[in-house]
Amino acid sequence: MSTRVLVTGASRGIGRAIALRLSKNAQVIALVRKDGDARALADASGGRIGSLMLDLADRIARALVVADAERSFGPIDGLVHAAGLGEHRPLEAVDHAQLDARLELDVLAGVDLARDLARSLRARRAPGSLLFVSSTLAERPAPTTSVYAITKGAVSSMTRALAIELAPDRIRVNALAPGVIDTEMVRAPRLAPGEPMPEGEARKAREDAQIAELAKLHPLGRVGTVQELADAAAFLLEAPFATGTILTLDGGLSLG
Ligand SMILES: NC(=O)c1ccc[n+]([C@@H]2O[C@H](COP(=O)([O-])OP(=O)(O)OC[C@H]3O[C@@H](n4cnc5c(N)ncnc54)[C@H](OP(=O)(O)O)[C@@H]3O)[C@@H](O)[C@H]2O)c1
Repeated sequence: MSTRVLVTGASRGIGRAIALRLSKNAQVIALVRKDGDARALADASGGRIGSLMLDLADRIARALVVADAERSFGPIDGLVHAAGLGEHRPLEAVDHAQLDARLELDVLAGVDLARDLARSLRARRAPGSLLFVSSTLAERPAPTTSVYAITKGAVSSMTRALAIELAPDRIRVNALAPGVIDTEMVRAPRLAPGEPMPEGEARKAREDAQIAELAKLHPLGRVGTVQELADAAAFLLEAPFATGTILTLDGGLSLG
């Protein structure tokens, strides 16, 4: 069982739900960017979630964070990398800045955290468990999702490659592949060029309509919840015979 778990993306959405779920049985160290998020997580978990402040795009700060976390909280044996960016663009609007930002967060930060934690686990001869968040879009892309599909495809490949490499050290590596989950990432209104952002009630109505449209893509007729993802994350993080598993949770989306 993981006793001390590092969770990225814990300020909101899927990462926050995972952090709160895991905090029932383990000590969670959240990597967040804002002081207020750290306080909110501590309050919501009854003090079971501690935090470190980190912009995951900052390579220098990132290189120190596993050692910092272990110095402040004790040896770590679990990692959930749930931070992510969700903007979709048609190919003609894709540029290196968007590609770089997504690769930096999904892939390079994931590799760095995994390598630094694996190094620490090996030095202690301790077993460990790593969990990444891929997407059904890695295997079943849709128009305008090329950058997302590229980076999530890399996350799935990274999961399998690290699983085989780290298995002899009893370090398991798995991933979740969600369909659409109701978070800010998918609620953010997808505007036509030049369209102003709706405000107040109009924005809420627009978000609900967008979620209702996305729900229709799923054979089960709805999008997923962050609690469903958090339960699956807790299962995979602890499942002793699971490694290299990419668990699809998508209401049947990828069957169509
Ligand atoms: N929602 C879905 O339908 C869906 C489906 C498949 C896969 N996923 C994946 O699931 C993961 C979580 O998505 P979500 O829907 O929960 O997204 P979200 O609600 O938009 O949350 C994104 C999280 O990533 C953090 N983050 C972004 N850039 C960061 C950076 N440079 N440094 C540190 N933290 C950073 C955000 O922190 P701040 O609050 O500080 O911005 C936030 O905690 C992502 O990898 C996403 O690609 C989501």
